Amino acid sequence: MKLNVYAIPDNVADKELKDKTVVIIDLFRATSTMLAALANGCKEIVPSAEIEEVINMSKNYEKDSYLLCGERNIQAIDGFHLSNSPLEYTSDKVSGKTLLMTTTNGTQAFKRVSDASDVLICSLTNVDAVADYIAEDQNDVAFICAGTNGHFTTDDVVTAGAVIHRLTNKVENLKLGDLAAVAKILYQHSANDLHGLLKSSTHYGRLMDSGLEKDIEYCLTLNAAPVIGIYKDGIVKLADKVQD
Ligand code: MLT
Repeated sequence: MKLNVYAIPDNVADKELKDKTVVIIDLFRATSTMLAALANGCKEIVPSAEIEEVINMSKNYEKDSYLLCGERNIQAIDGFHLSNSPLEYTSDKVSGKTLLMTTTNGTQAFKRVSDASDVLICSLTNVDAVADYIAEDQNDVAFICAGTNGHFTTDDVVTAGAVIHRLTNKVENLKLGDLAAVAKILYQHSANDLHGLLKSSTHYGRLMDSGLEKDIEYCLTLNAAPVIGIYKDGIVKLADKVQD
């Protein structure tokens, strides 16, 4: 099994994803938020790169069946029901709803995965479930980090490292690309103090400056949302709700 990590979506050519299992990571905060919503009973999530597209899509849904969700530059979007804080996605708000979501970085990554055979969403909040899924699936894996504003972010790479670390004990003959090997070492050296590793990172700092320390705490809580989200035909659903 080959594992490769791509620091930002632009680093990966579509053909490299053909027939691979793709794992999309945006720890702060899109994939952490999506998994919180799935764990709390939302029907599905439709990720979009554009605010306008999300608003136009909503016209195709019954009024009480959907929520407009997301952020730009960490801030809530005027007129949207929910921001990109995972703590807002409580079951009383999201249960049974279709979430039409757009974020600055996380939802942009979904544009790159059309050729993949399987697309999972990943955070530290479902790290064990993702490792178990990959170990059982036995397919080559491409971890796509959302990054921040087109740049490398430590938080996404260390999350990939957390999954790879767990696979080391589950799968024989792992072949790691260079950044996958670095991600694993980074996680192994920082697993006991992820705040210590990340507090100097850009995105962590921006979230702290925005008073969102509770979001950081949630996103760094391993297995807080132990579910598998699969992206297929433009929609993210719980794995057991995805038709083959
Ligand atoms: C994201 O895509 O998650 C945003 O860029 C950042 C955030 O909401 O903190």
